[in-house]
Order: sequence, then C-alpha cells, then structure tokens
Amino acid sequence: MDFFSYEDGTYRCEGLSLEDIAARHGTPAYVYSEKTVTDHFRKLDEALAPVPHVICYSVKTNSNLTILSHMASLGSGFDIVSGGELFRVQSAGGDPGRVVFAGVGKTREEIHRAVEAGILMFNIESLPEAELISQVASEAGRDVRVAVRINPDVAADTHDYITTGKKETKFGLPLARGLEVFQAIGRMPRLSPVGVHCHIGSQITELNPFTEALQKIGPLITRLREEGFDIRYLNFGGGLGIIYHDEAPSTAARFADSILPRVRPLNVELLIEPGRFVVGNAGVLLMRVIYIKETDAKRFAIVDAGMNDLIRPTLYGAYHEILPVRPRASRKVTYDVVGPVCESGDFFAKDRSLDELQAGDLVAIKSAGAYGFVMASNYNTRPKPPELWVTGGSVRVARRRETLEDLVAAEMDALKT
Ligand code: LLP
Repeated sequence: MDFFSYEDGTYRCEGLSLEDIAARHGTPAYVYSEKTVTDHFRKLDEALAPVPHVICYSVKTNSNLTILSHMASLGSGFDIVSGGELFRVQSAGGDPGRVVFAGVGKTREEIHRAVEAGILMFNIESLPEAELISQVASEAGRDVRVAVRINPDVAADTHDYITTGKKETKFGLPLARGLEVFQAIGRMPRLSPVGVHCHIGSQITELNPFTEALQKIGPLITRLREEGFDIRYLNFGGGLGIIYHDEAPSTAARFADSILPRVRPLNVELLIEPGRFVVGNAGVLLMRVIYIKETDAKRFAIVDAGMNDLIRPTLYGAYHEILPVRPRASRKVTYDVVGPVCESGDFFAKDRSLDELQAGDLVAIKSAGAYGFVMASNYNTRPKPPELWVTGGSVRVARRRETLEDLVAAEMDALKT
C-alpha cells in the first residue's frame, strides 16, 4: 500500500498536505513517503521469511542517501552497478559486507574499490571481467566471493529496454556454458565461485518468467554442486512490477509462493535485488501548471517539471497517473501534459482526460519514486528538483534544490585562466 491519499479535499503524503509542502519547498519537487518504503520492504522480507535470504535493495532505482540509510536501518543489503553507488552506500552508513556488484562494464578502479571495501560478492558477467577481478584481488592480497550471472534466455512481458534475460541482450553468460565458466573461474587465483546470479528484467507483472528462469537455473546449481563447487547463494535479481495504471502485478506473497517451493530444495541463501517494488509507489513528482495553452489541435497543460526531471514517459512510453492536488469537482478535459523543455518529446501524458486544470494548480505525478530522480538531468540548464522525505509527520530535505551556481561550478575554472 502507499501512504498518499486525499483528505479534506487535498492530496496528502502521510497526512501532510502537498499544497503546504509546495508552498514551503517550491515546485517541481520529488516527495517520498518513508512509511510506504518500509511497508513494501517488510512485505517482501516477511514473504521470504521461510528461507534464509538477504534483500539487496537495488541502489540504481533511487540512490538518495536518506533512502539508503533508511534501507540499511531496515536490515537491507544493496545491489550496486558502479563504484559511485558503492560510495553512496558507504556514505549512507550501509554495510559493504552486504553489497553485491553487478554490471557488464566494471572498470579496474571500481573493482579495486569494491575489493578494498570487502563487498559480499561480485556478479560476474564475462570471463575477461573475471580475469580482471582475479588480478585486482591478487594485487590486493584478498580473496573475493563471486557469483556468475546466468542469462536463462527467458522472455519477460516488459519494455524491450528493460528486458535482460533474453540471449540477445548484453547481460550474463549462457546457461549452456555455465559449468565451463565456473570451471574457468575456479582456476583463477583469489576467486571463490559461491553463487549463481540471474536478473531477467524489470517491471515484470507475470510470475511465469520468474518460475521459468528458476526451472532453468536450478539444475545448473545441482550440477555445479556435483562437480564440487560450493554454491551457497542464489541471487535471483529484481524485477517485480508495480501498478502504474491498470497492471495486476504479483504481490510479494504470491511471488514468494511461486518461487520458494523451487528455491527451498536448492538449499541456498536467497538474495534478491528489488528496486521498483520498494520505492516506485513511494514517490510523487509534485509540479505546478504554468499555463494552459489551446491550439486548433490540442489543449496543453504546461507544467514546471520536464522530461529532464522524469524521463520515463518519453523514454519508455511509460504511463504515470497524474492527479490534481486539489480537485475542483468540475468537468473532465483532455490535455497533453507537457514540460518547458525544447523538444516535442517533453511530455508526461498525451490526450489524457483530467479534472479541469487552471494555471497555478498543483498536480502530482504518481509512481515516481523509482527511476525518477536518478535518471534526471540538467538538460536546458534546469536545476534538479529537491527530494523531500516525509518521515514521522514532517518533511526532511533529503536533497536540496540545485542552484544555478551548482550547475556551472565545474566549468568556472576554465574562465579563470
Ligand atoms: N538487479 C539488476 C541486476 C538490475 O539490472 C536491476 C534493474 C534491478 C536489480 C532492479 O530491478 P527492479 O526491481 O527495479 O525492477 N530505468 C528503467 C528500469 C531499469 C532497470 C535496470 N535494472 C525504468 O524506468 O523502467
């Protein structure tokens, strides 16, 4: 469940009025609900309780330090894909010993940082990468645990850009080569192959792709054990879908019911890397209508947030619900909701029927907690919005609004020469 709702005619986050938040902190602004994050994390944690498991929250989804610190306080580990994300986890006080590191292009510097930090394990995506990790670990005189990311070649019913378990994608190594890859890695100095990793995609609303992937991975784990590999971990990735519009995604309980019977006989510690499921519906992007513009073809609601702040609608054709903060119970009108950025791709919704809007109105774009702020840019020299964390009945500025000075700071030195 999420903790956003209408009360007394206005849309609220954990009871706090978004009108008050906008008056105090300005727009556009990301607003996150701590209770929602906690609720989603706990639901998954409880559903997986029958097996030994670690939830490794996927940092890329929303990497604000306040969120990472909250995740650590809930007992979460972390899934990272860069040295930068490791730095964030450490800055937030997260335990590097509960960090798993995926990604097809880890550099020597990133590997070095992770080896020194003593992370839980690397998710290896290719043999050249394994060789480099072995080399860096040898130089540092440290043993490292590794899992091999297996690409099970299963289709997931999601956007092409976020499908990762098909054999044509750049991710993982083929199932059929699994044993041979483990044998090669087993011969490399300082590497202990202890796990199998598999992440098939994101915003997956059906259970079949997950169970199909498990059916393929399970026998590999059994085989590896027969060959003498001490496989202790199955990292099953993230991918659980959420409701943006009219999806009917699986609940944590149903996800657990379908995978645990297949995981239990494997006798492994289960790692999972959820991102969207935990934070997606815990955030909204709050914005104000600047103008209503009518042309022969369209009626536009022009808002003060743009594609640079939330790129999902234009990048993936993603649907995000748009709600008036104070609905006026008047008629429905069809709008294109667009931002100020100089591209026709700068839209949040096209031909969307909404309660009638006027200039000055506040609107909230829902389900913006995942892949929202983290994918924001400064395109058109637009400062990034603040991130506001609603906790215990008040608002904490988890990231202040960027200033114009922030935006030019890294370029000023060039003018001084
Ligand atoms: N583990 C790995 C290895 C991943 O690559 C990802 C996401 C996750 C876990 C977390 O997946 P989740 O539980 O959030 O589905 N920007 C896109 C989504 C990209 C997902 C990338 N990988 C979007 O806005 O839909």
